[in-house]
Amino acid sequence: MLAVDSLSIEAIRRRLTAATVGRQIYLFGQIDSTNARLKTLARGGAREGTVVLAEGQTAGRGRHGRPWFSPSGVNLYASVLFRPALRLKDAGVFSLIAGLGLADAVKDLGVSPSIKWPNDVLVGRKKVGGSLVECAPRGDEIEWAILGVGVNLNVDPAALREALGESGLFATSLSTITGQEIDRNAFAASYLNHLDAWARVFETTGAEPILAAWRQRDILGGRRVEVRGSPGGYEGRVLGIDPSGGLHVRDTLGRAHTVTGEEIRILD
Ligand code: BTN
Repeated sequence: MLAVDSLSIEAIRRRLTAATVGRQIYLFGQIDSTNARLKTLARGGAREGTVVLAEGQTAGRGRHGRPWFSPSGVNLYASVLFRPALRLKDAGVFSLIAGLGLADAVKDLGVSPSIKWPNDVLVGRKKVGGSLVECAPRGDEIEWAILGVGVNLNVDPAALREALGESGLFATSLSTITGQEIDRNAFAASYLNHLDAWARVFETTGAEPILAAWRQRDILGGRRVEVRGSPGGYEGRVLGIDPSGGLHVRDTLGRAHTVTGEEIRILD
């Protein structure tokens, strides 16, 4: 692994232009999971915009209950608390701002990212980051939402391969792509700034601009995919994202499905 600078709240703050995101930042060395830590803070009344960062995670969590490989000192592990005035049914669209913010931060490095539903950020066919969004429902509304992202910045691809096995072949890091060490503080600030901007867009204009921006970065539209669910799965073609953030897929028998949580594998 490369020797890279430590994360620093001061270095992030110097670059932070966000109105809300980052008004309180906690930075830890190695913790279990930034999402888990922020959940505790949220339950204790932490304000919207609170951020938890960690150099490394011992129990980083990904989607579908998978672990998230979280070596210390090389990547970004960041969770942000929102308390949006939001119906539970709109949480899916709101959560897309994590992928949009991440894709924008990647683009700032001069790299062209795409998003694989819902929030995997890819460069080419390889994943560089993803998000785990967790919400606390209150009736049919949301009390809070935590948007946690993990981004492979400077991790060595060999370490990814060793930790992830075969699926490590479909992951990479931004330093591998750019051929340069990524400044983690600058990347963290860039992500937080973009995330804040997308949250303002959602707050002021609603779901439509979020969906439109997301569609521009979508890698799945029109592609043949396998939807892995329980029980079983099916193959089909992606029609696109719907207004609630679900993915429309038409299976090989012509039946329409709305995917809300299952895993998608690109077939061609
Ligand atoms: C995925 O693609 O499966 C989502 C990965 C999300 C990982 C991040 S790392 C920071 C935050 N804390 C966690 O435990 N998970 C998210």
